[in-house]
Amino acid sequence: MPKDSLSITDNRTGKQYELPIQDGAVRAVDLRQIKTGEDDPGLLAYDPGFINTASCKSAVSYIDGARGILRYRGYPIEQLAEQSTFLETAYLLLHGELPSAAELDAWVLEITHHTFIHENIKKFIDGFHHDAHPMGVLVSTVAALSTFYPEAKHIQDERARHIQIIRLIAKVPTLAGFAHRHSVGLPYAYPDNDLSYAGNFLNMMFKTTEVKFVPNQTLQRALDVLFILHADHEQNCSTSAMRTTGSSHADPYSCMASAAAALYGPLHGGANEEVLKMLREIGSKDRIPAYIERVKRGELRLMGFGHRIYKNYDPRATIIKRVAAEVFDVTGKNPLIDIAVELERIALQDDYFVSRKLFPNVDFYSGIIYEAMQIPVDMFPVLFAIGRTPGWLAQWQEMLLDKEQRISRPRQIYVGAGVRDYVPIEQRG
Ligand code: CMC
Repeated sequence: MPKDSLSITDNRTGKQYELPIQDGAVRAVDLRQIKTGEDDPGLLAYDPGFINTASCKSAVSYIDGARGILRYRGYPIEQLAEQSTFLETAYLLLHGELPSAAELDAWVLEITHHTFIHENIKKFIDGFHHDAHPMGVLVSTVAALSTFYPEAKHIQDERARHIQIIRLIAKVPTLAGFAHRHSVGLPYAYPDNDLSYAGNFLNMMFKTTEVKFVPNQTLQRALDVLFILHADHEQNCSTSAMRTTGSSHADPYSCMASAAAALYGPLHGGANEEVLKMLREIGSKDRIPAYIERVKRGELRLMGFGHRIYKNYDPRATIIKRVAAEVFDVTGKNPLIDIAVELERIALQDDYFVSRKLFPNVDFYSGIIYEAMQIPVDMFPVLFAIGRTPGWLAQWQEMLLDKEQRISRPRQIYVGAGVRDYVPIEQRG
């Protein structure tokens, strides 16, 4: 009769243990009973990068990396990208269910009426150097928002949580738009609450002298779809940062600043920026084989390729390829797409990539679309952050309501010096 348990024999002591298995996992803390003696603190699980450690139970998003599946609250990403809007998807992530028509109207209205930021934030942005990276500006200004909303620290108060969630989803595009305007020396363009979420973002990016900015319908929808595709992705690096910071009961603005900082790195949300630099460096299709050889020699990584979880085509990359075609019908083709498609073709035939199951990820094609839409390269991770905001917040709220969660505090295996006496500086060699 099969049992949901794991039998372990500790060969150091000959002792046997039986650990319960629940949801396909053993509890790491159950390993602690496995000791060699009274002084032994117990067996640890060693897992740098959390390759095989579940840090939480979550009902927000689901990935099957082997089959290339991504679902938000059970809904396939393909259906959401086709039929939903970003704000409806945000509602789904945060509430667990799709809204009724009335709930969606109220949700959209509430977010739309919190798009403005305090004028002092503008002064704060003014203080940044003209070439400050907009992601650095976003991280700082998101953190600064906590000083404007001191009630945000009441994280156990459902009403206070709700209003901060609304504010963050509403204001992040405004901060992003202002960061861009500052970097190009243009006056800030204020939110236009008549426009859609994505349409208003385009307004804040590109409005110049026209009385009313009219976003292109195709580009506005493409951007909305890109936000949907980025909205959540289970326990990735930035989401883990959000949860880890939140586990100390910091306010959501501070938590989100740490999540955005984690996203900034080139191995995570900064990868879309790196892909564009890489494609430009390659420059033409005939130079691809030589570039691939450098990757295989370990001199560099193929940016936008590979994923910790996906060992198959990233389903988001498939959707993005389709969106790219729609965008190019409006903007004209970005010549980098030809290099990207050829790079993908060559890589997917090469044993180096095939054997390691390295496929294009979400960042491989997103930058090419953004560039065709005239969005500067250093804004790419910022756009990722706008899309990921509802996911971070849904995961943060789930963490707070989870009775099993405690302050995040991993263990270590100490490999440093043993105890030794301090040597006064004049006696050191
Ligand atoms: N180019 C070349 N080789 C690679 C790449 C790549 N992009 N990614 C992984 N490898 C190789 C790596 O060298 C290693 O080979 P070996 O076994 O011979 O040492 C093997 O594949 C496994 O790599 P890993 O570093 O152990 O894998 P990981 O799960 O720790 O890293 C990753 C995942 C996404 C950081 C990595 O694939 C990478 O650096 N990709 C490029 C950056 C990128 O596109 N990031 C965006 C990820 S998707 C958006 C997001 O969610 O942030």
